[in-house]
Amino acid sequence: MPDFHRIAALPQLVGQTVAVRGWVMTTRSSGKIAFVALRDGTGYLQAVLSRQEVPDAAWEALGKLAQETSLEVTGVVRADRRAPGGVELQASDLTIIGPSHDFPITPKEHGTAFLFEHRHLWLRSRRQVAIARVRHEVVQAIRDFFYERDFILVDTPILTGSIGEAAGNLFAVEYFDLGTAYLAQTGQLYVEAAAAALGKVYCFGPTFRAEKSKTRRHLTEFWMVEPEVAWNDSNDNMKLQEEFVSYVVARCLERRRPELAELERDMRPLEAIRPPFPRISYTDAVEKLGALGSGIEWGRDLGGDAETLLAKQYDRPVLVYNYPKQVKAFYMKENAADPRTVLNNDMLAPEGYGEIIGGSQREDDHDKLLARIREEKLPEDAYSWYLDLRKYGTFVHSGFGLGVERTVAWICGIPHIREAIAFPRTLYKLWP
Ligand code: 4AD
Ligand code: MG
Repeated sequence: MPDFHRIAALPQLVGQTVAVRGWVMTTRSSGKIAFVALRDGTGYLQAVLSRQEVPDAAWEALGKLAQETSLEVTGVVRADRRAPGGVELQASDLTIIGPSHDFPITPKEHGTAFLFEHRHLWLRSRRQVAIARVRHEVVQAIRDFFYERDFILVDTPILTGSIGEAAGNLFAVEYFDLGTAYLAQTGQLYVEAAAAALGKVYCFGPTFRAEKSKTRRHLTEFWMVEPEVAWNDSNDNMKLQEEFVSYVVARCLERRRPELAELERDMRPLEAIRPPFPRISYTDAVEKLGALGSGIEWGRDLGGDAETLLAKQYDRPVLVYNYPKQVKAFYMKENAADPRTVLNNDMLAPEGYGEIIGGSQREDDHDKLLARIREEKLPEDAYSWYLDLRKYGTFVHSGFGLGVERTVAWICGIPHIREAIAFPRTLYKLWP
């Protein structure tokens, strides 16, 4: 027998004597019998102690338990249909490992600001544990999806010399004698180079935007997965996106139902997430939005409100394609059929979660790309390597970026993406 067992393993050990280590959630006692609710990260367990059956020291320790005291309880695993996980522990001994006094987060309601000040402790709450476990599933599903389809993972740099998306929201870092480096807004430009080497690739890591926005959809540091595929056009790109998002959602429904139930997530809308997803051109979307009473003009980016209104018309994510060139990044391929627009798309999640994916076919014409770099007044030198990809065997290629926190927030049904990452970074948050 190992020294101790994780709570998740106990249903397989009914009738056996085991030790469990964890943290106290609550205790109650009726004099002769006491109940300790504990958790260990893998599950929740009730230990039952009877005054007559445990040593005096254990009964005394019981009196010193407080919220978040760490402890070891030994006992027999008993089947109990009403218990979480279907088992409880009939304890024969209990020892305190680490006392806890006045744990700041009590079962009463706390304000959001207070909870985020105590994020390092708040992570232990049932809701936060459930969110972390869904996030873990989302990340694993992402890796599995690309692995199963023979994509090669390429890790791209976080310190970069070129701007990935737009000049406005860069974090600058002093970089020895080489001047200014920037924290990567995207790994895309690098996976484009890798796609010419390996065909189907993706990068997956933290990305940074010095966003001054205070919306519930923005972080300054967020995780993004970015596939890039040689010879995919914009249509192939959208097809990959709908298969990908459907796969990730299905995996959470398959393996994280208890966590979604803990979060009181209505799972029916998630069950509808299957390809094909509805597609609408930006131009048609503007018209539709006009009819719905939103006064958006052609040529402007869709704001959060317009996105929400549009996405509400569908029961699954909607792909909005071919936006005006002027509101999108310099690297997107010009649409030959209407050069005012580019061959790109955003994916808008249902239920008001907004844009979870931005993607496009890339400009593969050297001179057009150079002209766009000049128009945007980007530092030409920094892009010479990127232009090389169009000089030495240029190729049709497309890719996209999915934001992990927005996706987790949507799947969990939580209102703010701050809770979708363990230690969020925003305009006002650098601590803990
Ligand atoms: O639309 P974005 O800016 O696209 C890119 O970065 C491209 N280089 C991707 C590519 O084609 N390889 O960002 C992609 C996604 C958004 O749809 C959103 O989900 C997420 O990244 N995102 C953010 N998430 C949280 N906080 C922010 N400030 C975000 N900015 C973008
Ligand atoms: Mg975008």
